[in-house]
Amino acid sequence: EAGALWGGRFASGPSPELARLSKSTQFDWTLASYDIDGSKAHAVALNAAGYLDNDELVAMHAALETLRADVASGAFVAAESDEDVHSALERGLVERAGANLGGKLRAGRSRNDQIATLVRLYMLEHESVIRGLLVQLVEILAGQAEAHPGAIMPGRTHLQHAQPVLLAHQLAAHAWPLVRDLERLRDWSVRAKRSPYGAGALAGSSLGLDPELVASELGLSGALENSIDATAARDVVAEFGFILAQVGINLSRLSEEIIVWNTREFGFVRLHDSFSTGSSIMPQKKNPDIAELARGKSGRLIGNITGLLATLKALPLAYNRDLQEDKEPIFDSVDTLEVLLPAFNGMIATLTFNTERMAELAPQGFSLATDVAEWLVKQGVIFRDAHEISGELVRFCEENGLELHEPTDEQLAAVSPHLLPAVREVLTIEGSVNSRVGAGGTATVRVTEQLANLRGRLADF
Ligand code: ARG
Repeated sequence: EAGALWGGRFASGPSPELARLSKSTQFDWTLASYDIDGSKAHAVALNAAGYLDNDELVAMHAALETLRADVASGAFVAAESDEDVHSALERGLVERAGANLGGKLRAGRSRNDQIATLVRLYMLEHESVIRGLLVQLVEILAGQAEAHPGAIMPGRTHLQHAQPVLLAHQLAAHAWPLVRDLERLRDWSVRAKRSPYGAGALAGSSLGLDPELVASELGLSGALENSIDATAARDVVAEFGFILAQVGINLSRLSEEIIVWNTREFGFVRLHDSFSTGSSIMPQKKNPDIAELARGKSGRLIGNITGLLATLKALPLAYNRDLQEDKEPIFDSVDTLEVLLPAFNGMIATLTFNTERMAELAPQGFSLATDVAEWLVKQGVIFRDAHEISGELVRFCEENGLELHEPTDEQLAAVSPHLLPAVREVLTIEGSVNSRVGAGGTATVRVTEQLANLRGRLADF
């Protein structure tokens, strides 16, 4: 019967137009099992406060488990008249436990404190799935880096050749932001584990129910301090949505490099056949669709958090029905990453690198000019002059169609008497890379340490 949770003061049921607008079972059914967990915990609190005797508690729990099994098998589904998952499950409980027992469960709780709790339980469960996939991606990036210890590629700023770097250093540079996302998830989970259950509609319960008991029954760390805040706040949902969007942004930045590296002009990578797609008209095409979908879906993840923040802005306390709009964006962000990450991880794990092509391009574009300037500084030339001399050498080479290591001893001396033949020692990409031994630098010795640290950090998650 429509409006089954609140029919008493109404002479008529809801109009079909309202019922259609109000209905959320088509998406909040995802929360059914968490709703049952919440109900079982609430029954324990009712028992502790003397509103259910021990036999009633056992019968209530049994009926709720039957209901859970019936939801899982599809034997119990939402009816046309059910407004949301909570009202549907109360109907299911009364059908299974009878109105005398089933009708007792709602005492001292509201859908407002229920829903605020259930979305936390949902997020915490999926946080562990997403965390596992992110740990796997960091391991895959570390593995690819370790598999190419000496490979050197052009490092870029402004997408222009800047300085040569190790491929391993570049790959690890994509791993560290994901480690920070893992840290964000861990920090967030401390806040997510606080329980709103027991706050009631907004003001708390008069029945002597213990919110701490409900929290511990649910495996949460404790009850929230303020019943109004408990039912009204969704910052913990928004924060999770932000972290998922940030993960998407990080994937999109790696995706963009893979898309570029996979072009004929770069030729740095080859995608495995099973992680790339073809064209319906051009037989030769092999496209980086996973990377493109990651780039595209990052926009969707940003849209979800943006929409949620817009819903929350200026919303008065405590519960307002607007808050029902928190669920679809967060469910969508979770679903998006849980589908994207397995494909993305497979693409990275099976990527092959053309390290010869990278090494060929690495010294081009005068990317060793900084090494010339720093060599001059080590010879006692002040940096302003060294920068100027190195720039003049670049100009000489550009005008004469030479690379930096190609001028003769006489030509070097003509650019500047400080440019002795020994400068050629730093004019190799290996010399350049391995001179950058400062902390966090691209020298092989530093990158080897870095990769060990990266692996070590994964133990935290
Ligand atoms: N379905 C609602 C939500 O998802 C919870 C129900 C609260 N409804 C109400 N009228 N207080 O937020």
